[in-house]
Amino acid sequence: MKLAERMSRLGTESAFEVLAKARALERQGRHIIHLEIGEPDFPTPAHIVEAGKRALDEGWTKYGPTPGFPETREVIAAYVARTRGIQVGADNVCVVPGGKPIMYMAMTALVEPGDEVIYPDPGFPIYESVIRFLGATPVPIPLLESRGFSFDLDTFASLLSPRTKLVVLNSPANPTGGVIPKADIEHIARLLRDRDVMILSDEIYSRIVYEGAPTSITAFDGMLEKTIILDGFSKTYSMTGWRLGYGVMPLWLAKAVNLLTVNSNSCTASFTQRAGIAALEGPQDCVDTMVAEFKRRRDAMVAGLNAIPGFRCRMPAGAFYTFPNITGTGKSSKELADLLLDEAGVACLSGTAFGGQGDGYLRFSSANSLANIDEALARIRQISARWA
Ligand SMILES: Cc1ncc(COP(=O)(O)O)c(C=O)c1O
Repeated sequence: MKLAERMSRLGTESAFEVLAKARALERQGRHIIHLEIGEPDFPTPAHIVEAGKRALDEGWTKYGPTPGFPETREVIAAYVARTRGIQVGADNVCVVPGGKPIMYMAMTALVEPGDEVIYPDPGFPIYESVIRFLGATPVPIPLLESRGFSFDLDTFASLLSPRTKLVVLNSPANPTGGVIPKADIEHIARLLRDRDVMILSDEIYSRIVYEGAPTSITAFDGMLEKTIILDGFSKTYSMTGWRLGYGVMPLWLAKAVNLLTVNSNSCTASFTQRAGIAALEGPQDCVDTMVAEFKRRRDAMVAGLNAIPGFRCRMPAGAFYTFPNITGTGKSSKELADLLLDEAGVACLSGTAFGGQGDGYLRFSSANSLANIDEALARIRQISARWA
């Protein structure tokens, strides 16, 4: 029996493959420091866990409405309106199991063969995967280290064509930690305002920023009706396993996304949505504490990486990744990532896991303790004689 042809066009997230390889080494007795994983290492805050438990006891264990419970959507709409300075209502909100389904569903609802989709490279690998799966044409926009991993605006303008159907923005970004400056977002908005295009604004890291608040393109004139905001609870509230995320979009598109939900997972877990309300309405110091700890780790990581021969590392402005340039080692990203895992017991990701433009870079996640980060940096320094 053969798989459908379209399956050959689906990509994957190689973070999961590296994790499997690291775990296999651990089973052989090796000590591995995990800097490949893209999920906060903190527990879900206690008041959110309590709300989830209470919801189970109260019987929130049945099917819920396809778009999400009205109260969940109200609370999300109010949060998104407040944090972005925009006007949206519960009907604009689609609650789904994680942020990722919004990528898949919004693209499925919008793009088809012949359409072009512009997306960041290096970027979250699922963008390109789904674009190809749908038979649309991927148009990568290179992120530039020299611009803090934003893209060049003239290059962006030159990639826009009458076939451009969708533009994917991700700020703060995975894997670079880059944040697109407000002036750039405003310029992008000007370029897109009179075009018949949609924007998928992946804002899943919007609360994990170290200098000021990031700008959502929805805040600029005429953009709200062209944009799908993707956000969720996974990163902000350390809730990756709860599977709770959402999209905020125009009504005509929300209807289509809800139809895709009916045809796939019916609805999002009910008790999880109760925990989500507690997350948005409860105290936010848990987020501040997590971000402060990520900042300490980022600072240690950047200083440590810059002290390794052949590494050059910019200070990321958001998310919890560092993305050092390793061209000075003379090794390819893949070779170096393998060497660090095999010889130093440090798991990280090759920049090429995020697109062709990731060549020459590695991604280190700060989702590990400061002590383990220091130990990983020391181990890398120790084996750097191999390329120095
Ligand atoms: C840029 C980006 N968008 C979306 C997601 C998906 O988040 P979730 O786990 O909520 O589906 C991730 C997760 O790593 C991500 O890095």
